[in-house]
Amino acid sequence: MASDRIAHAGLAAKCRSAEEAAAMITDGMTVGMSGFTGAGYPKAVPIALAARMTAAHDAGDPFRVKVWTGASTGPELDGALAKADGVEFRLPYNSDPIARERINRGEMQYFDMHLSQVAPMAWQGFLGELDVAVVEVTGITSDGQLIPSASVGNNKTWLDRAKGVILEVNRWQNAALEGMHDIYYGTALPPHRVPIPLVRADQRIGQPTFRCAPDKVIAVVETDAPDRNAPFTPPDAAAHAIAGHLLDFLAHEVHVGRLPASLLPLQSGVGNIANAVLTGLIDAPFENMIAYTEVIQDGMLDLLDSGKLRMASATAFSLSPDAAARLNADMGRYHDKLILRPQEISNHPELIRRLGCVSMNGLIEADIYGNVNSTHVMGSRIQNGIGGSGDFARNAYLSIFMTPSTAKQGAISAIVPHVSHTDHINQDVQVIVTEQGLADLRGLAPRQRAEAIIAHCAHPDYRPALRDYFARAMAGSFGLQSPMLPGEALAWHQRYMDSGTMRS
Ligand code: COA
Repeated sequence: MASDRIAHAGLAAKCRSAEEAAAMITDGMTVGMSGFTGAGYPKAVPIALAARMTAAHDAGDPFRVKVWTGASTGPELDGALAKADGVEFRLPYNSDPIARERINRGEMQYFDMHLSQVAPMAWQGFLGELDVAVVEVTGITSDGQLIPSASVGNNKTWLDRAKGVILEVNRWQNAALEGMHDIYYGTALPPHRVPIPLVRADQRIGQPTFRCAPDKVIAVVETDAPDRNAPFTPPDAAAHAIAGHLLDFLAHEVHVGRLPASLLPLQSGVGNIANAVLTGLIDAPFENMIAYTEVIQDGMLDLLDSGKLRMASATAFSLSPDAAARLNADMGRYHDKLILRPQEISNHPELIRRLGCVSMNGLIEADIYGNVNSTHVMGSRIQNGIGGSGDFARNAYLSIFMTPSTAKQGAISAIVPHVSHTDHINQDVQVIVTEQGLADLRGLAPRQRAEAIIAHCAHPDYRPALRDYFARAMAGSFGLQSPMLPGEALAWHQRYMDSGTMRS
């Protein structure tokens, strides 16, 4: 008998085992999965699918699918399918280590596209057809509406576009999530596209549930399994220093009247430094803050608890197990302070520009002119993906990037003569912060930016070599707008690959 989470009789009659549901997915299909970070991803069907793939491979019968998601997911999805060598193509953001290895070995095609563009591109038909959607939900109402789970991501689009829908109804998700979501159905393709009527981060413009024609649903699978996000490591000295520089800078911007005392809607990226900055905001002199961001991580919850943050709008939770337990135990208290939206809305350039977000993201390396590489180690090895960083960086009121000044115990400088891969061009990068200091690049021309970045952001061990490169580039460059020695620009990376250090 179906559980009380499935109030629609017709859909209750479609309850199947995960294995039966997975059998409806066949070799070569394109599958749209729910999930955004380790939240709201299907947990049973992908595992059953991976088992079928492994059995097929063992029998000498290739079985691979194309997978679309919201962003990264959990080990039961990306990890299991990658382990089974079952993914031919994947988009958008991935952070699963097994999938990362396959991608970097050239065994999986991967398109780490801007997160705001996934749903529009699917609608535009640029990505091809979607055969099956596998979407985790919290419950199904008596009239067949779907109560979203701990992430919204691209689920609305997958449910609309897929030929068949498999639902995972996860009892572990708190029933009190109902009402927290805002699903906007007003998007359209050009020439019929209209302005999105959201002018405040705390505004609701949609409905709390997904629509899905019951006859499209080919199976319903009941689960009871937790979301999986890794715990944050406590901030180290570098993270504290970065947070300190950034908070001083924000206070200065308030002081000179370029930011209101409550700041502007905050966007905070992934990772431990971003989390440390949010934690630092608890003791900062800003009140009544608001967040318009992609994920709600632990630091965001702490800020809400402190009373400093009034509300947060995002597309997903990205909480450590402890913070997830805290949220679950007290969902009622957070209910009116959190809104989860489709990622095409949480990351929409029109809305980020209109609201004037203060965007804070991590980076892998930046060059002396402020071009930023967020994705590729040594220019070719993908770490995660661009995620929403491009959506926010280009359109934010303030576009801030932060990183420790070195990586791999000092063997790598995060500030290099030239980035080995470019995700964010210098025009989209206004502020760079390391534990060494902060470079405010607004209004600076390239040679001025180089002086500021080397002086304020580079590690002292690498500063002389950067100054030396810059001086020689000034003397011998083809042009002097952005002085460069092409034969030497990536020599630091080559040195690291050859000798294990960028130090000369
Ligand atoms: N060269 C080589 N490796 C580097 C490096 C560099 N310049 N900088 C970082 N790394 C490595 C680290 O050593 C670490 O490797 P490990 O896992 O083997 O220890 C890994 O990259 C992650 O770095 P870490 O210092 O832990 O940073 P983080 O968790 O803050 O993540 C990014 C930094 C850039 C990887 C992360 O912010 C990211 O994926 N950004 C792109 C997407 C994004 O910004 N999303 C948010 C938008 S809303």
